[in-house]
Amino acid sequence: MSITYKKLDPKDFEDSFDANQAFALDVLVGLSETHKSLSSKYLYDSAGSELFTAITKSPDYYPTDCEREILVKYADEIAQQFNGVAFNLVELGAGIGEKTKILLKRFTELDLEFQYVPIDISEGAMIELVSDLKETMPEVETNGLVSEYFNGIKWLNNRNERRNFVLFLGSSIGNFNHAGARTFLRNVWNSLNHEDCLLTGFDLKKDIEALLLAYNDVAGVTAQFNLNLLVRINRELGGTFDLNKFRHYGTYNVFNGAMESFLVSMEDQDVYIETIGRSFSFREWEPIHTEYSYKYLESEVKVLAAETGFRVNKMLFDSRRFFTDSIWTVHKPGA
Ligand code: AVJ
Repeated sequence: MSITYKKLDPKDFEDSFDANQAFALDVLVGLSETHKSLSSKYLYDSAGSELFTAITKSPDYYPTDCEREILVKYADEIAQQFNGVAFNLVELGAGIGEKTKILLKRFTELDLEFQYVPIDISEGAMIELVSDLKETMPEVETNGLVSEYFNGIKWLNNRNERRNFVLFLGSSIGNFNHAGARTFLRNVWNSLNHEDCLLTGFDLKKDIEALLLAYNDVAGVTAQFNLNLLVRINRELGGTFDLNKFRHYGTYNVFNGAMESFLVSMEDQDVYIETIGRSFSFREWEPIHTEYSYKYLESEVKVLAAETGFRVNKMLFDSRRFFTDSIWTVHKPGA
């Protein structure tokens, strides 16, 4: 089988922009607010991605284990979705694809007719994924796309008539607030056809102690993961953050139902950032907000599907009901 990837030219879709400049501007805006914040999307440079992989291996971080349990247990049921029809198995933000391989393996055993289309904005991640699949799953036809998610799906649709089965694993949807999640899902809906499928991982509301432990693991990997954002600013923007003067703090916001992460300044200090050309003042105990991780009720997942033009097909749960992979079908009125 051929295993390739293609890099979509961003110029085909939008004005190209300087990523470093965009990062600098976002840091300037975020650190100038009364309540300082930095977007969680900047947590994933190569060190950050490795730290996140380490988090998924921590015994305190339950979501990965829960989703693995679901995929192993229900692989056949998931396969039934498109049995007998050729389809594209599209994955948004494939990462290292460790959980996806459970499905690839089972789909291959069941002789389903599909090509695997991982979509990721990071070319480095794609190169790793593709070379890993060449080694470990050479029998799977893989054609990755280095592009933004929706551009990637649209590009694919213009080139083949197959049905799409889109995977959005790992509760990344939780980084959006509810309005943001609706916008995201509506964009997925727009780029898909009637009867295409979407499987999304949602982390569920649960005992707050379990949440707190997952985002404050005992070994301190999550703390390192968050602090790495300051390391990144130091390296890429000429920042002068002293890592010993900030501490990671993960807490559950009972009002919005989200785990939230902060980096808290341990003393009064000024931090100069060269690319931005100015300093930022921190008071003792002042926080920088770094991440939201929204948790859902089963009923909230169903409402979200209805609000964004999908029909809920199946809700798959792990044995503890900590997590759900929810399979939806695109419904286009009049189609
Ligand atoms: C990759 C967004 C799903 O929110 O649980 C893990 C990131 N942050 N520990 C999550 C994360 C802290 C993770 N997601």
